[in-house]
Amino acid sequence: MKAIAVEPGAGDPVLVDRPRPEPDAGHALVRTLRVGVDGTDHEVIAGHHGDLPAGADRLVLGHEAVGVVEDSNGTDLEDGQVVVPTVRRPPNGTNAYFERGEPDMAPEGEYVERGIVGAHGFMAEYFTSPSEFLVPIPKQLAALGFLVEPVSISEKAIDHAVASRSAFEWEPDAALVLGNGSLGLLTLAMFDTVLEIDRTYCLGRRDRPDPTIDIIEKLGSTYIDSRQTPVDEIPGTYESIDLIYEATGYAKHAVETVEALAPNGVGVLLGVPGPWEFEIDGGRLHKELVLHNKALLGTVNSHRGHFEAAVDSLSQLPDWLFEELVTGVYGLEEFEAAFEQGNDVIKTAVEFDTL
Ligand SMILES: NC(=O)c1ccc[n+]([C@@H]2O[C@H](COP(=O)([O-])OP(=O)(O)OC[C@H]3O[C@@H](n4cnc5c(N)ncnc54)[C@H](OP(=O)(O)O)[C@@H]3O)[C@@H](O)[C@H]2O)c1
Repeated sequence: MKAIAVEPGAGDPVLVDRPRPEPDAGHALVRTLRVGVDGTDHEVIAGHHGDLPAGADRLVLGHEAVGVVEDSNGTDLEDGQVVVPTVRRPPNGTNAYFERGEPDMAPEGEYVERGIVGAHGFMAEYFTSPSEFLVPIPKQLAALGFLVEPVSISEKAIDHAVASRSAFEWEPDAALVLGNGSLGLLTLAMFDTVLEIDRTYCLGRRDRPDPTIDIIEKLGSTYIDSRQTPVDEIPGTYESIDLIYEATGYAKHAVETVEALAPNGVGVLLGVPGPWEFEIDGGRLHKELVLHNKALLGTVNSHRGHFEAAVDSLSQLPDWLFEELVTGVYGLEEFEAAFEQGNDVIKTAVEFDTL
């Protein structure tokens, strides 16, 4: 079968031949439909994030997949069922985090991530997986199933942000997304449509005309240009924000989020920056957090419950959003196009097969 693999840090993804996998007991064989490409894939390709599987010289990419069960192999799945795989797997047997259904909370060394860290991904015509890591989704969502994984990341982030404010009465009226990449835009749409937050903002660094600014405004949100209004100036120019979701990977935003928060607000950080030394007023940061009951938290990955919530959220988002957000779906003969970047590219996917 064909697969898309990369030598991280040493070049572009290439098409390779690999044996079609045979499912072990408890595993199902899945025929891949589509696999999305995101910022993490680009970081893996560049060699900035992730790791090869033991003994491999290339990594099969892909962690945002949707497929159809080809051989349920005696598991509780059914042949023909459309499924989305979760990303983390236990490295050796299982461990307490996986047994509790909380692989997303496992520390380094207690997991591998398919297509990212230590395990091959889903960019192949077929893959196998233990059935417990395959989440069934409705057939009518198959074409958009590659968006379930990224939306699940935001489900977890929102879940943890809200949980951090659950000790008191907290209702966010204003929310801000930092970053107008695909993750940021999907989350903005969730804030607007699913959570029905009154006032939403999204920060980028683009000139108009720009397709991401069009989406932001069509959602009824306000676009903030970080070159004109840095994050810590947002309260003065717009308003203080109850809930901030960082998806830029720009480390200064993590710190400046504290200044942009309203009293009792929470900032949730998702970006994965490289090392960067810069000056901050640590005393002021500390005092802001304490005297105004603010919270700042980081979050990574998601568990099965977040995938299930993501299916629900996706089905509530408007069709026009997907038409504008998914800027390209490419077959294997032109898969390279899915990895191209530019201001007119928002979200792409490789199509391996159709239902
Ligand atoms: N924690 C997790 O579990 C998790 C999961 C998935 C992804 N991530 C991370 O989340 C981040 C977003 O993912 P993505 O796929 O949406 O990535 P992406 O497509 O690279 O989006 C990042 C966006 O942030 C914007 N940006 C960067 N620096 C900025 C600045 N100083 N001011 C304003 N805008 C700025 C970029 O603008 P331009 O395009 O104009 O440069 C881009 O639109 C990445 O860091 C990724 O690694 C984390």
